[in-house]
Amino acid sequence: MNPGIDDLPVRDELRGKSPYGAPQLDVPVRLNTNENPYPLPDALVDRIAERVREAAKHLNRYPDRDAVELRTRLAAYLTDTTGYAVSRAGVWAANGSNEVLQQLLQTFGGPGRTALGFEPSYSMHALIARGTGTGWISGPRRPDFTIDLRAAEDALAEHRPDVVFITTPNNPTGNAVPRETVLALHDAAQAVKPTMVVVDEAYVEFSHGDSLLPLLEGRPHLVVSRTMSKAFGAAGLRLGYLAAHPAVVDAVQLVRLPYHLSAVTQATALAALEHTDTLLGYVEQLKSERDRLVAELRATGYEVVESDANFVQFGRFEGPGGSHAAWQRILDRGVLVRDNGIPGWLRVSAGTPEENDAFLDAARELKKEQSA
Ligand SMILES: Cc1ncc(COP(=O)(O)O)c(C=O)c1O
Repeated sequence: MNPGIDDLPVRDELRGKSPYGAPQLDVPVRLNTNENPYPLPDALVDRIAERVREAAKHLNRYPDRDAVELRTRLAAYLTDTTGYAVSRAGVWAANGSNEVLQQLLQTFGGPGRTALGFEPSYSMHALIARGTGTGWISGPRRPDFTIDLRAAEDALAEHRPDVVFITTPNNPTGNAVPRETVLALHDAAQAVKPTMVVVDEAYVEFSHGDSLLPLLEGRPHLVVSRTMSKAFGAAGLRLGYLAAHPAVVDAVQLVRLPYHLSAVTQATALAALEHTDTLLGYVEQLKSERDRLVAELRATGYEVVESDANFVQFGRFEGPGGSHAAWQRILDRGVLVRDNGIPGWLRVSAGTPEENDAFLDAARELKKEQSA
């Protein structure tokens, strides 16, 4: 007998579910996972090799369990870029912000508790909730994907979640949540009961506005989560981090695996942090390419959601087959974009100017075809 998943005593809530999986297809232009299209510069690659070589000499030992040097550097990066003084004690790092979010839900969610996010948003929030046994509540957004404060406050009062996710800029829609809305949601949640509010700022470096990090002042239930996967162009590194009151960092220690962050990861991330200026230079190019995508898609007749991220949500595709058929037509032209399952909409990540040209050509041809 060759058993499948259904023959195994898998937890009930996992039965019949699908794993996260953006297609990894071998096509000329891949603009579907919000990666940074620019490879790391040679000087940084050399520095990584040097740092990893040094770390390799000590791989017989477990790594620094508390990642002290890395957290110190991350705190300095946050302080330099936001003007808000963050200390090492208020920073924690893990293998991608997905692991940071998982540790937060292991600590503050779990069986008998719930988390709420305003959907559509980053689908992993719900999946990590499921994986940690946390109940998931889908909070509302308006049809234009902004958050309706009154409806959101009603949802908080009705469901009394233990954890609230606010993704800003939001994925997949690209729009940022105004600071006043985040503050109001934080206060509304606390008015119901002590609630952890996780602001997922994975894309904040691409935003027209500022980070919400300064809101941490005097708010021990607020957490800001960040990643090196996007702005730093290091998705393959797997390094995410959070900033919060030091008590939150202490709490997360209760669930983190010992030595979760390998010495090789720590060495690589430290090398990348030495090249922050060069890496953030690419962010400026991507922001202007993102703005070009928005302008040209609109000029072609598409509806586009205002974007503060390195991607753009565009539509609408209401004809036969809807957005999935449109996704396939763009793929037929060698360009992979993302169908997040939001009826009528697709998402494209900002690539290099050449990749974006290829995408815009495909989008224009599709428009012609659909208006014919
Ligand atoms: C909103 C948001 N948060 C978190 C992540 C996770 O990023 P990583 O685990 O690579 O740090 C992503 C990745 O796409 C994202 O879109």
